[in-house]
Amino acid sequence: ALVSMRQLLDHAAENGYGIPAFNVNNLEQVQAIMEAAAETDSPVIMQASAGARKYAGEGFLKHLIQAAVESYPHIPVVMHQDHGQSPKICQGAIDLGFSSVMMDGSLKEDGKTIADYEYNVEVTRTVVDAAHKLGVTVEGELGCLGSLETMEGDKEDGHGADGKLTIEQLLTDPEQAADFVRRTQLDALAIAIGTSHGAYKFTRKPTGDILSIKRIKEIHARLPNTHLVMHGSSSVPQELLAEIRQFGGNMKETYGVPVEEIQEAIKFGVRKINIDTDIRLAMTGAIRRFFAENPEKFDPREYLKPARAAAKQICVQRYQEFGTAGNA
Ligand code: G3H
Ligand code: 13P
Ligand code: ZN
Repeated sequence: ALVSMRQLLDHAAENGYGIPAFNVNNLEQVQAIMEAAAETDSPVIMQASAGARKYAGEGFLKHLIQAAVESYPHIPVVMHQDHGQSPKICQGAIDLGFSSVMMDGSLKEDGKTIADYEYNVEVTRTVVDAAHKLGVTVEGELGCLGSLETMEGDKEDGHGADGKLTIEQLLTDPEQAADFVRRTQLDALAIAIGTSHGAYKFTRKPTGDILSIKRIKEIHARLPNTHLVMHGSSSVPQELLAEIRQFGGNMKETYGVPVEEIQEAIKFGVRKINIDTDIRLAMTGAIRRFFAENPEKFDPREYLKPARAAAKQICVQRYQEFGTAGNA
């Protein structure tokens, strides 16, 4: 059944686990996530970015997710708008039937200009007022995703702050977070701790100076009852990079967020963990391998099947690693 995200996050908090939120753009990704959830008995958060709505078309995305809900009636599913850039976009998602929306007021509507704090409070509060009347969950964001190595906002997928950022912008301030939660009354808070979107997060395996789990602990100490959200949380497995390279792809040296660090974060209030890139890498590796090994094949079903299986495998792993398994 389609459920509100608040319900799932409350259960996760009571029972001390985290829930991966996977980005979806097409049929095979939706199927992979549902197969993984069914196999591990996990609740599902599927999220669609503005880019996903543009790529697939709103009607297609909505009905893909509804098909998932119908095909797996015993699994709770959240349909979440990822990175809504304005109250208008969030309202559009609510009208379309999403059970949860993210109002990302850390940036202005252009997705590049860093917003001032009062703007963020204002737009988030506006969305909360509209959404809560309908039982829809709201995620907000305070702080800017970006790299503590380069001090730049993330540019990987076309949104992210322009220019150099300060450490204060790249790490969410616990006191300000407390004020933000109190004034907006949101359900879940996305925080900045040094992660960024896409495959190129870190130039080395991250240590505390470039990935601040410590900051999560400080925020959780100040806001023990707030559900925290980690964006840019793909682990960028080295074996997937190797597979892509082995079959002709060009992936530069790069590192993601280690699963152990996410597991530590889950002990300190992180309940939703956003993952898109790992599924992209898994599908691309599988398709590259298939084409290399079967140059005579041309039926899309034949190469999308291993791609779907590879996506499913990543989802199964994350459901197990984050403690989601068994909680559907
Ligand atoms: O927010 C980041 C997700 O990875 C979605 O990326 O905007 O390319 O769909 P996208
Ligand atoms: P990744 O690029 O690390 O998968 O992050 C996805 C994300 O945060 C979507 O909002
Ligand atoms: Zn994100």
